[in-house]
Amino acid sequence: MKRLGFRTAGESHGKGLIAVLERLPAGFSVDVHAIDAMLARRRKGFGRSARQSMENDAVEILTGLKRGKTIGAPLTLFVRNKDVRIDAYRELHRPRPGHADLAGAVKFGTKDVADVMERASARETAARVAAGAVASQILSAVGISVFGWVSRIGSVALGGNPEIPDAASVREASPVGSLDPEADGRAVALIEALREAGDTVGGEFSVVARGVPVGLGSHAEWDSRLDGRLAQALMSIPAIKSVEVGDGAQSAMAQGLTYHDPIVPDGAGGVDRPTNRAGGIEGGISNGMPIVVRGAMKPIPTVRKPLPSINLQTGDPEEAVWERSDVCSVPAVSVVAEAMAALVLLDALLEAVPSDALDHLLTGTDALRARARGLTRSERPIRP
Ligand SMILES: Cc1cc2nc3c(=O)[nH]c(=O)nc-3n(C[C@H](O)[C@H](O)[C@H](O)COP(=O)(O)O)c2cc1C
Repeated sequence: MKRLGFRTAGESHGKGLIAVLERLPAGFSVDVHAIDAMLARRRKGFGRSARQSMENDAVEILTGLKRGKTIGAPLTLFVRNKDVRIDAYRELHRPRPGHADLAGAVKFGTKDVADVMERASARETAARVAAGAVASQILSAVGISVFGWVSRIGSVALGGNPEIPDAASVREASPVGSLDPEADGRAVALIEALREAGDTVGGEFSVVARGVPVGLGSHAEWDSRLDGRLAQALMSIPAIKSVEVGDGAQSAMAQGLTYHDPIVPDGAGGVDRPTNRAGGIEGGISNGMPIVVRGAMKPIPTVRKPLPSINLQTGDPEEAVWERSDVCSVPAVSVVAEAMAALVLLDALLEAVPSDALDHLLTGTDALRARARGLTRSERPIRP
């Protein structure tokens, strides 16, 4: 992060998860119910484990607010765990392939892989979602929306158009957080069959951000590029194995004349982009078109029919440990990805419009848009 401070702390079976956000603009009214609603979206989704019905994930704001408004001080968000047993947890010596268990145990000098699991667990993503919900609210105040959904579960491709007016309710009604009611049944059946078989599955998420002004990120330094910042944030979500911007990997098969988004006059003194294969970012800079990113999640590594492993105490071959686990977490990942994208975009916006207070951010963002108007136009719908 360049301007925003963002850190999480906490373990899977400790007291809870914490997120700290620094340098938020003062004077912003935080909607706690909206944070809880986003946390609830992360918990839901067909294929998750029994833990999700045990945790109710209501955020507590510990610092940084006065009468519900930010005051320019660090904002501390706390999501309490119900399943608190970190000190009573039995030792586990059979690392699971596909997890941080083995490499983490060697790195931190322990044979008890539970030490590693506590922090490597994706329970940590509850803190990311709480922080991302705050970022989303601030972005929304300046006319930027961030929307994530599930676009594939294993072999089942999930289509749908995020531009339809009721996209949020379609996603809400979907058991897997998709925009494709017709294909949802096949996704649910696949997860159900794999649960029966003691197996797991991954999939794909998509995120679109609309209303992003031209000029966030920069081509000038390698670590200022907005595409790189989004990719790092999304790849940092456990189990994410690839991130694409716009047409992504498909670009490798395209040809220049038909691939690049033409720049045409819009008839009102500005410019238009009739296509958005670049996904709203050119040269590492937002270009005013919707920012479109996608990511792939690998199958959950804790499988009920356990994978081969060894016992770290004896060195003998044994089956990997099985702990209560999701069969499919892609619906949850789409919410975490939305949260991480919102944090990166807020960071890039605060970098472009350094603002100590909300009124500075509002006028500064308006000024940024006014500057770009006449040269480019923002908030175009995505062309499927
Ligand atoms: C929201 C979410 C939920 C997850 N739930 C589980 C789970 O229940 N069981 C499991 O073994 N892995 C789960 N994972 C995946 C692991 O956290 C991940 O595979 C592991 O950290 C190693 O992935 P990496 O090699 O990409 O870091 C989940 C991931 C996310 C993002």
